[in-house]
Amino acid sequence: MSALPEFPRLQFPDGLDTEGFLARYWQRRPLLMRQALPGFENPLPADELAGLACEPDVEARIILERAEQGQWQVQHGPFDARRFAVLPPSHWTLLVQDVDKQLPELGVLLDRFDFLPRWRIDDLMVSYAEDQSSVGPHVDDYDVFLIQAEGHRRWRIGLDPEAPLELIPDLELRILKQFQADQEWLLAPGDILYLPPGVPHWGVAEGPCQTWSVGFRAPAWRELADDWLAQIADRFTPQGRWRDQRSAPPADAAELDQQTLLSLRAAIESGVARAAPDDFAAWLGSWLTEPKLNLELVPYEPPWPEAQVISSLQEAGHFERDGRSRLLFTRPTDGGKQAALFANGQQYRLPAPLLPLLSYLANHHRLELDDVSPWLANPSASRLIAALFNAGHYAMPAER
Ligand code: SIN
Ligand code: CO
Repeated sequence: MSALPEFPRLQFPDGLDTEGFLARYWQRRPLLMRQALPGFENPLPADELAGLACEPDVEARIILERAEQGQWQVQHGPFDARRFAVLPPSHWTLLVQDVDKQLPELGVLLDRFDFLPRWRIDDLMVSYAEDQSSVGPHVDDYDVFLIQAEGHRRWRIGLDPEAPLELIPDLELRILKQFQADQEWLLAPGDILYLPPGVPHWGVAEGPCQTWSVGFRAPAWRELADDWLAQIADRFTPQGRWRDQRSAPPADAAELDQQTLLSLRAAIESGVARAAPDDFAAWLGSWLTEPKLNLELVPYEPPWPEAQVISSLQEAGHFERDGRSRLLFTRPTDGGKQAALFANGQQYRLPAPLLPLLSYLANHHRLELDDVSPWLANPSASRLIAALFNAGHYAMPAER
């Protein structure tokens, strides 16, 4: 990538503002947004995307469609560069996940979606498709903004809420057995198609094209409950075992009586009440910022002393944030005095007056000395910056 891209501001179609979009479309119905990123110029050449797909920690797939047989094949990366030389002239797509984390200079595009909470964003997936390629008609569980980055793609969507969602059996891909298009559009660079979860869609490239998908995460209740209740069991459930309280023999030795049921249940569920709002926030913040295994940061070994980190910042003028760094913060709950920063699964508890610094760190891709210098006299602030640096969230400008 030659120069750092400056992405256009996101524009909703005429007559629609952010509030209107959230009230009428978000999570509800599809919206075609012509020239939502006006003048968008693709900064990512196809060979650079292919190069990324050859790197060991990058999640990439090639999807081949043997159109005449209606057969689909999925190959998983990392790929050997020679793989790309022997692909057919049409009917294949390369999909690369988490491009925002691998190429943070492209990850800044996600700031254009700041009208939604950051924790909801999953990743920027980039696909390169040859002429007539697609990943088949399918339904996603997540909201997605499909940005046409280069070339043209024809999107068809189904709007019938009763449409059958049966999948072609025995495929690694989730492809609908039947698909009926109710609307279709040809997208050009800068156009965006927003789709809420559950809308059948099918995008076919007309000539080679690149699509950037900004995908949102919506954790399943069961997934959340699974993890939170495991914490409750681990940390808040009483130690020890059942002990009989009764002094009289049971009315019927074979009966599991009401009193036993009630006291067992009360003891097990007492852990839920024992967990404070701060405990819940600590668990959720860590859970949401926990990276995938291939996206873990590389800590500095051995860690630098705090004074060295701060003097390096003073010398360099800024630190670059690693694309894999996920930061969220919470305010003190219930009138408490502690705020928290969640950083790739770690929790840092900090005095509430540091909130503006936490917001700054979590919202910026660069840590500028000029912006943080008023904080450096505060020991909690400089300790935090050093800890984040040593954990790999930041690097010196020339290093990466
Ligand atoms: C693609 O980019 O080829 C597929 C995106 C999608 O349908 O979700
Ligand atoms: Co999709």
